[in-house]
Amino acid sequence: MRALITGGLGFIGNALVKRLLAQGHECHIVDNCINNCWQPDDAARSGAVVHAPVPVSEYDLASGPDFDVVYHLASPVGPVGVLQWAGEMASMIVSDTHALARYCIEKRAKLINISTSEIYGQNVDNQAQREDIDKIVPAEVTIRLEYAVAKLTSEILLTNLAKVHPLKHVTIRPFNVAGPSQRGEVGFVTPRFIELALSNEPITVFGDGLQERCFTHVEDIVDSILALAESKISNEVFNVGNPQNIVSILDLAKMVKEMTSSQSSIIFVDPKELFGPHYAEAYNKIPSIEKVTSLTSWRPSRSLHQILVDVIESVRG
Ligand SMILES: NC(=O)c1ccc[n+]([C@@H]2O[C@H](COP(=O)([O-])OP(=O)(O)OC[C@H]3O[C@@H](n4cnc5c(N)ncnc54)[C@H](O)[C@@H]3O)[C@@H](O)[C@H]2O)c1
Repeated sequence: MRALITGGLGFIGNALVKRLLAQGHECHIVDNCINNCWQPDDAARSGAVVHAPVPVSEYDLASGPDFDVVYHLASPVGPVGVLQWAGEMASMIVSDTHALARYCIEKRAKLINISTSEIYGQNVDNQAQREDIDKIVPAEVTIRLEYAVAKLTSEILLTNLAKVHPLKHVTIRPFNVAGPSQRGEVGFVTPRFIELALSNEPITVFGDGLQERCFTHVEDIVDSILALAESKISNEVFNVGNPQNIVSILDLAKMVKEMTSSQSSIIFVDPKELFGPHYAEAYNKIPSIEKVTSLTSWRPSRSLHQILVDVIESVRG
């Protein structure tokens, strides 16, 4: 199989490409290198065909080879990472998805679109988010809202294109992916806590630390992407996450401190003091994975402890 992977030099993308290459697939990567953790030369040495730094909007799909599958991961990410894309991100996310969908319709390729759990909004209660709940757009316009609504608009345009064209697509909404090579700079908490703990600096917990997350190992996410790409399922949207790994951010800080034998203190800070007034994130994020587990044999299998062991090892280098 020949695959196009947008964002293939990123955190999830590089894990996906390495798996596809190991399975003998031909991989073509398009990445603009705004947040890559894999260097283009290293990816090329591993056997991928690499177009970088090239934004999706400038990659000439018509002149490339025919792809059987398109994995679309390219996007600004992270509560800090999205801030610099205010006012630009929505059109980029939607138009990239639309161009790839048109390509997949014409070439009869399957499109695996990576969306986000951010489409569920603020989540101030403790309910697991199911795919079939109504999505409420809050009145307060944050930069994060632009990211979330653009991702949701992309999902909607794919669902509607598939009603009137022979588009085969699956959308995946990952919940809090974590694992080796994730970059803390764009706001992801696991590498940030581990870097602070290993340098014995204060571990900065945002707010009261009681907000909950369900961390999912990047290799579990890759398993789900491959399972859904290989399945006959089409025109469906799935949450993918690991509800068993639920933890409050304060307890995560305590686990990281203990597992790294760190001398760090744990302190509570207002993230707006660190990242400016536009910083925003959801309160709780808890996935319902009933739909994906009822329609596929995919199950998340890596524990929170395993995630932290793997990230600590990768940060130690
Ligand atoms: N990491 C998470 O917890 C998480 C959670 C939910 C959804 N997602 C989604 O998963 C996907 C991958 O996320 P990630 O964590 O691997 O992020 P990442 O930043 O590590 O990877 C994204 C890659 O895409 C590239 N990129 C960004 N915009 C591009 C563009 N316009 N054209 C070409 N390349 C571009 C970046 O340089 C980067 O290498 C994203 O679509 C994100 O919205 C991630």
